[in-house]
Amino acid sequence: MCGIVGYIGGKNAVDVVYNGLEKLEYRGYDSAGIAVIGEGKIERRRSVGKLVNLKENLNTNKIFGNLGIGHTRWATHGKPSEENAHPHTDCSGKIVVVHNGIIENYIPLKNQLQKEGHIFASETDTEVIAHLIEKYYNEKSSLLDAVQSALKEIRGAYALCAICADDKTQVVVARKDAPLVIGLGKEENFIASDVSALLAYTKDVIFLENGDTAQVRKDSIKIFDGQCNSVERKSQKVLWNALQAEKGGYKHFMLKEIYEQTQTIQDTFRGRISDEENKIILQSVGLTKEDLLKISRICIVACGTSYHAGLTAKFLFENFTKIPTEVNIASEFRYAEPVVDDKVLTVFISQSGETADTLAALRLAKEKKSKTVAICNVVGSSISREADYVLYTHCGPEIGVASTKAFTGQLTALYLLVMFMADKKGTVSKKQLAEFIAALRDIPTKIAETLNLADGIKGIAKLFQNTKQFIYLARNINYPIALEGALKLKEISYIYAEGYPAGEMKHGPIALIDETMPVMVIATDSKIYEKILSNIEEAKARGAKIIAIANKDNTEIVKNSDYQIFVPSTQEYLSPLINVIPLQFFAYYISVMKGCDVDQPRNLAKSVTVE
Ligand code: G6P
Repeated sequence: MCGIVGYIGGKNAVDVVYNGLEKLEYRGYDSAGIAVIGEGKIERRRSVGKLVNLKENLNTNKIFGNLGIGHTRWATHGKPSEENAHPHTDCSGKIVVVHNGIIENYIPLKNQLQKEGHIFASETDTEVIAHLIEKYYNEKSSLLDAVQSALKEIRGAYALCAICADDKTQVVVARKDAPLVIGLGKEENFIASDVSALLAYTKDVIFLENGDTAQVRKDSIKIFDGQCNSVERKSQKVLWNALQAEKGGYKHFMLKEIYEQTQTIQDTFRGRISDEENKIILQSVGLTKEDLLKISRICIVACGTSYHAGLTAKFLFENFTKIPTEVNIASEFRYAEPVVDDKVLTVFISQSGETADTLAALRLAKEKKSKTVAICNVVGSSISREADYVLYTHCGPEIGVASTKAFTGQLTALYLLVMFMADKKGTVSKKQLAEFIAALRDIPTKIAETLNLADGIKGIAKLFQNTKQFIYLARNINYPIALEGALKLKEISYIYAEGYPAGEMKHGPIALIDETMPVMVIATDSKIYEKILSNIEEAKARGAKIIAIANKDNTEIVKNSDYQIFVPSTQEYLSPLINVIPLQFFAYYISVMKGCDVDQPRNLAKSVTVE
């Protein structure tokens, strides 16, 4: 995600803000910028790429001020470019803002503001905030009032800082569904999206609560709640060191990313479900009903974990859009003779958007005149630029090599794409769509419940840390989740693990099963739940220890399995989003217990840009 740093006090804000931004570099970003109030006017410098580019810019075009704000941007709306880099200004250039999060209703707001005469200089959602503040800022309304009025019009997630050239004694900040912390100093105060940016200056901080706005001066802080009532928020002492702070206090990035999933899944569907009616709105996917009626087949192409998201999506596309769907490993697709033409919709899934095989496959599909859709996490990446349409997952940077939150983000984006297409094509009823939307909205709460199972899963992992091999079984839409669970274990624990469709076990893997081969089985509510129970019996009868992922009301499972992980139930087709979480934890804890390098497993790379 993006990073925010702000400063007000006696020092040169440029240095403090720049140092803070450096501490946020680990989060990943594509451009950066700083603005200060100099001699009565805003001075702003922005650069694309690494922070050293901003440093060079600041060295050649020096700016100075005791109040400043800065930002590292991870693009969400608009490509990485200087125009899209924060801070953003209003028309007058007097007000500047930095913002993390996503403004869901920025398009209608932008249209309205443009009608009122505001001139926009970027493609970002953030710029809307600067112009809205400008709209409300006048003799009777202070910067704080103007920010509070602007926020009443905004729907979405934000952590933001705003400053105005008219008053160099205050920074106004606000947060909702994105973190923001105020660092307390003597005759100086700091602001950051992440405590790691502040630790060099102070350990005393105030974490703002959802809906808060605050006026930060060098010697005072006034905080207001969502109803603009003045409130007290207690300060706390941060006891983390810098590295712990980067990981949000978690031991590894992977663990942090597993825990982020309640938020990241919401970020993927945020702004894409209409509140007024049950509709999926995918502005970046311009497929019309006519286009969809012409599609005879869907061809999904991806690698690694993204391939597993594709395998899951096959069930969804076929069920809801009624279009035959195949899933291909990119490195195979590119050298096969794929039967693809202008009637085939090809869907490319890639966290990084740079995987060489997936990119080559995309180019091949385009040569064959197929319409292409990319599901990517990294904005502006090669795949996202070259595909006809792109649906971003908005999960923020994923640092652990083993993909977790990007996977659930991909699944969420695919659910949206499937339902968007099915609705347009008329293959899903209004009732089904309404049920889907309600169930999807419930998923973050269910993920939060599933995250609470971590200790129990850790206990089970302890019993299996010395195992040499594992089989993961599931059926139907959870079969790809078995593959994903097995991949996670292989990747970070170096234990040989194989995922298999449970009904196929009798045609081979059953020969391997004895007391040395534990079996992880997904047995949550399903129309073929009883079939899975028989498959478990077959493994148990041959001495295997069984770990079952099940729903609370699946009581038979207690007799059939040795260990149970009870996860919340949901619609069967959404269950992969929940069921993958225990498997992520299981692989994580075994890896930690074995002393493996969790975040950077041997021989693996986060982004494979070579063939
Ligand atoms: C590498 C990573 C995996 C990832 C795969 C595909 O193998 O280690 O985590 O799933 O590449 O990457 P992509 O960025 O295309 O999703």
